[in-house]
Amino acid sequence: MGKKIVAGNWKMNLLKEDAQTLASEVVNIAKDELSSDVTLIMCPPFVHLSEVKKLTSAVSNVFIGAQNCSTEASGAYTGEISVGMLKSYGIDYVILGHSERREYFKESNEELAKKTDIVLENGLLPIFCCGEVLAEREGGKQEEVVGSQLKESLFHLDAEAFSKVVIAYEPVWAIGTGVTASTAQAQEMHAFIRGLIAEKYGQEVADGISILYGGSCKPGNAPELFACKDVDGGLIGGASLKSRDFIDIAKSY
Ligand code: PGA
Repeated sequence: MGKKIVAGNWKMNLLKEDAQTLASEVVNIAKDELSSDVTLIMCPPFVHLSEVKKLTSAVSNVFIGAQNCSTEASGAYTGEISVGMLKSYGIDYVILGHSERREYFKESNEELAKKTDIVLENGLLPIFCCGEVLAEREGGKQEEVVGSQLKESLFHLDAEAFSKVVIAYEPVWAIGTGVTASTAQAQEMHAFIRGLIAEKYGQEVADGISILYGGSCKPGNAPELFACKDVDGGLIGGASLKSRDFIDIAKSY
C-alpha cells in the first residue's frame, strides 16, 4: 500500500472569496477530524494558490497542488506558469495529464513526460492522471491505453524518481458523470497498474506508490472504493468543492 492521499481538484471553479472560505473550512475541519496518516491535498486554480497556501500552512498533513504547469523553465511562453514559480510559492504537488487537459488542450504522453521531468527536477511531486475513455473500455482496451500512458510518460524515470510519483487512475467515463467505476473495475485496474510498475521497477517500489481513484468519488461510495486492496485514496473533483464532503471522503479509510 502507498501512502493514503486524498486530493481535491477544484478545476476552474470558485472566485477569490469562495476559494478562501473553502480552504479555511477544510483546514478547520481537518485540524479537528482528520487522522494524521492521511495526506490531504487541495489543488485550486493558479490565481488562488498563494492565498490558499497561506491559509493551510498551519496543518502539517494538508498540502497544496497546482493543476498543471509548463514544460519550460522560463521565457517567452505567454500565459504559461513554470514549476519554478510554483516552487517559489511553496506549492508541493502538480496534477499532470488530467483527462480534461488531454482532451481540450491535446496534451500528449510525450509532453507529459517532459512535464513530469521538470516537476521532479524542481523537487515538486507529480500527481499523474491516466485513464481510458468509454469507447476504449467498451472495446476492452483499457489496460492497453493506461499501460501506454504510464510507459510513455513515466517509465523513462529511474526508480528513485519514479518513487516520488503519485498515480491517479481516472476512467474518463466516470469523471463528473455521477457514474463510478465498480469496486471490481477499480481494483482490477489498480492491480494492473501496480503490476506494471512491479515488472519495471520491482515489487518494493510498486508497493510504495500511491494509486488514487478518481471519477465521481463521493462520501457515499468512497469507503467501498478505498477498501480495495490497491486503492490508496482518491482524486476528487466535484465533491472537493464542499468542505464537509471532501473531509468525509478523506475520513473514509
Ligand atoms: P469528479 O472529477 O470527482 O467530479 O468526477 C474527478 C476529476 O476529474 O479529478
